Amino acid sequence: MQLSRIVRLAIPAPAASGTPQARDAWMMHFELEVTITGTPDATTGYILGIQEIDAAVRATTPAMLQEAMLRGAAPASILPALRRALGNSLGFEVARLAIRQHPLASTATDNAMPNHAVLTHRFDFAASHRLHCATLSDEANRRVFGKCNNPAGHGHNYRLETEVRVPMQDPAPLRGEEIERLTREHVVDRLDHKHLNTDVPCFSDVNPSVEAIAKVCFDWLQPAIRTAGGELVRVRVWETEKTSAIYPD
Ligand code: NI
Repeated sequence: MQLSRIVRLAIPAPAASGTPQARDAWMMHFELEVTITGTPDATTGYILGIQEIDAAVRATTPAMLQEAMLRGAAPASILPALRRALGNSLGFEVARLAIRQHPLASTATDNAMPNHAVLTHRFDFAASHRLHCATLSDEANRRVFGKCNNPAGHGHNYRLETEVRVPMQDPAPLRGEEIERLTREHVVDRLDHKHLNTDVPCFSDVNPSVEAIAKVCFDWLQPAIRTAGGELVRVRVWETEKTSAIYPD
């Protein structure tokens, strides 16, 4: 059996030789996809814990990637050494290692606010929910909420996109990796792998519709982003590829 894990890294671009690393160095974003093969442990069901893979990638690869950038080495030329180093760190052979710059973060500016940049980041989380109104009949609930009224609940793979406006200053008051950290801490970790109706108190008497989830994500994240020096413009939450909510509009 194969297990695949993607780890996202943000690595400062190497400074020109002889100059100190600038705090506002360009960040190079990468995804490393680690694939291992093996037999799942009979007790845990794991081939290897994903936390171990994450830790090994973060401990082993950033310095090697930065060194490769510094001497202009192509990604393909360093993959074998990366794979070996990762395997040694894990104590487990890495069957496949892919590297790519990830498409989930972008920076934009426009005429409307030329002195600001908007940083867009995407996240995903899985959660279960049930949409149901106690004041409606069972038949009306089924009519209004369809499959989302299933009594035992059901899951969605949600996607969250955040737009954060930051003043263009040197040094930047808020950087992308800090936005990612704050969003994970204040939003994603509170929703991921939860049953929204029962595990997340604010949904105990509010239907966890995608509209309600988008508002909660915004309300949780906005104060943290503001304290950190940015302004959360809006969030968008996808419940499926076809259904999403944006707050505020
Ligand atoms: Ni649903």
